[in-house]
Amino acid sequence: MTIKKVMVIGAGQMGAGIAQVCAQSGFSVLLNDMNEDALDKGMNNIEKLLTRAVDKERITEEAKAETLNRLAPSSQLSDAESCDLIIEAIVENMDVKTKVFSDLDKFAPKQAILATNTSSLPITEIAAATNRPEQVIGMHFMNPVPVMKLVEIIRGLQTSEETYQAIENMTEKLSKTPVEVQDFPGFVSNRILMPMINEAIYTVYEGVSSPEDVDTVMKLGMNHPMGPLTLADFIGLDTCLYIMEVLHEGFGDSKYRPCPLLRKYVKAGWLGKKSGRGFYQY
Ligand code: CAA
Ligand code: NAD
Repeated sequence: MTIKKVMVIGAGQMGAGIAQVCAQSGFSVLLNDMNEDALDKGMNNIEKLLTRAVDKERITEEAKAETLNRLAPSSQLSDAESCDLIIEAIVENMDVKTKVFSDLDKFAPKQAILATNTSSLPITEIAAATNRPEQVIGMHFMNPVPVMKLVEIIRGLQTSEETYQAIENMTEKLSKTPVEVQDFPGFVSNRILMPMINEAIYTVYEGVSSPEDVDTVMKLGMNHPMGPLTLADFIGLDTCLYIMEVLHEGFGDSKYRPCPLLRKYVKAGWLGKKSGRGFYQY
């Protein structure tokens, strides 16, 4: 199948990045959010990043204008009716995602593929909210999307080979590297990354060290580009908690128990960089 027009649902940090990369790669893109402010912020962020790329002479002014011409905001899910591929990047919550997929199933053309950028939730269960489970797939981008090269592609139980091939092909057109993954909690990336972040939070919770020192250990000792607590703030502490909960419930193993300090911060509304406070202040 040929993918020409893409709708990205959720204009937060991931959705805006995905929309930007798709538009820069020549696709027509609708960026959708139910929250008008979030949509404005997402569209503005894309414009700012493109302007920075022009300033750094990475792209021309003309390429920036062409990219912006391919991009339009959308506030109605029914706009999916004109799209070949819909990529969902909303909150990491199964009930909210299945509601959106069930609605999308009504609006999107019969042949359209419905992809989710979920970090950890079962693709098979999201697919079951539609009447086209063979056309539902996980397309897991990494943050920040314009910079990170990986996309995990996750097959649900019923995902067809045709859908898999179309998404692998699309990923390559976005100049990203696809890795095929089976439908297990946290896939590969977050099954490995999130327990490390959770352990770093336990280290602070138990008074072993301060957030700054834990980050310094991992940056200077292990050459990580960001310390785990800076990374947690960057990802969003709400997203980190949702992912740990999926791992804990999905594997039924206490080694995935979310740290109580992570729960406390999320309850307080300390969600990391996006809310102005997490392990650090922004
Ligand atoms: N959006 C777009 N571009 C960004 C960006 C952002 N949020 N942040 C940085 N960049 C770009 C900068 O513009 C810069 O590009 P230019 O060279 O063209 O100017 C480039 O990235 C490097 O940035 P900086 O020099 O400012 O900073 P840096 O060298 O420290 O790199 C970083 C920043 C790429 C984010 C780096 O710190 C890093 O790799 N951090 C770890 C990121 C990571 O682990 N991501 C995975 C998170 S887990 C996930 O995504 C899965 C999940 O489900 C939770
Ligand atoms: P975010 O909080 O920055 O943005 C989510 C956006 O979705 C918000 O703007 C919100 O208004 C919008 N939204 C919520 N419900 C909606 C609905 N029903 N219809 C339309 N818009 C809706 O979140 P994020 O960090 O961009 O994460 C989005 C998804 O991507 C999650 O599933 C997350 O697990 C996944 N993910 C996150 C990261 C990360 O590092 N943050 C990395 C990879 C994948």
